[in-house]
Amino acid sequence: MSHSTSQSQIESHYDLSNSYYALWLDESMTYSAALWGGTEADPAGLADAQQAKYHRHLDLAGAPGIDGSHPDGFRLLDIGCGWGGMIRHALDTGRVTAATGLTLSRAQHSYFGATPRPNGKVLVESWETHQPEQPYDAIVSIGAFEHFVTADTAPEKRAGAYESYFRRCHRLLRPGASMSLQTIAYDGVAGTSGPVGAFVTGDIFPGSTLPRLVEIAAACDAYFSVEQVTSHPDDYAKTLSVWSARLTAARAQAEEIVGPDEYRRYRVYLKACEATFRRRAATLYRIGFRRRDEPLFR
Ligand SMILES: C[S@@+](CC[C@H](N)C(=O)[O-])C[C@H]1O[C@@H](n2cnc3c(N)ncnc32)[C@H](O)[C@@H]1O
Repeated sequence: MSHSTSQSQIESHYDLSNSYYALWLDESMTYSAALWGGTEADPAGLADAQQAKYHRHLDLAGAPGIDGSHPDGFRLLDIGCGWGGMIRHALDTGRVTAATGLTLSRAQHSYFGATPRPNGKVLVESWETHQPEQPYDAIVSIGAFEHFVTADTAPEKRAGAYESYFRRCHRLLRPGASMSLQTIAYDGVAGTSGPVGAFVTGDIFPGSTLPRLVEIAAACDAYFSVEQVTSHPDDYAKTLSVWSARLTAARAQAEEIVGPDEYRRYRVYLKACEATFRRRAATLYRIGFRRRDEPLFR
């Protein structure tokens, strides 16, 4: 039984309007925290900070460098690929030779269809059912893990639901492969309680919730060793402040596309999330994993 956000819940958020998201995301249509590397949040720097984030994740996932060679090819899977920013980055920089993205959003899938790349493809399919013909060399997943358990999943089912993600990734990867994960997680608070949590994980992103680091560590343990964990609440606070500034600057067009109520709702959501990271109630993790070729069956 699936404990993930359903396709209709995903589409209620991500299929709102590609042209609306294009007003305030950067040109790569990346909808997750950028990597600012200590620089100040600046709308003019958002696109570069998003590419830097993609670069870091390809490092964590063991992709060859820009000048690296991959005589046998290097096949990447992006779980929760959004509008395809990572796939374009990975193929355009030559760090991979083929890239497949999974999303549950048909609007995102059709956006990628208008910005295609040779050897790149996006499927409207969940990781829960994805069965490639051959295993991948690496997996990245950025900003999607928040959808892999719902807020109303019973507490005793959460561990099994998260574990099933890592079990599936283990099957999807070749021996010796690495994988990266970027996810928001609760840090200073225990769970979804409180009006901000309920608004964001119930109303803005229906059917989603956040993990805690200890849940990720326990869920992956049989299948992956953790190679690196870093915590970046400032990266998300800065990204959200830039998105807010860009959305505010585009207010007239935004209201024309989605109406004044939806515009206001998004302004509140972006500001509320920024405050959540600034007070460290939640953080952003970037985690590198290495596949255990002999899983520790428990
Ligand atoms: C916040 S977006 C992040 C998109 C992209 N990684 C980025 O950084 O711009 C979350 C993505 O996860 C996808 N997603 C959620 N649940 C999924 C599932 N079970 N299988 C595949 N994709 C899923 C959504 O469709 C969406 O594309």
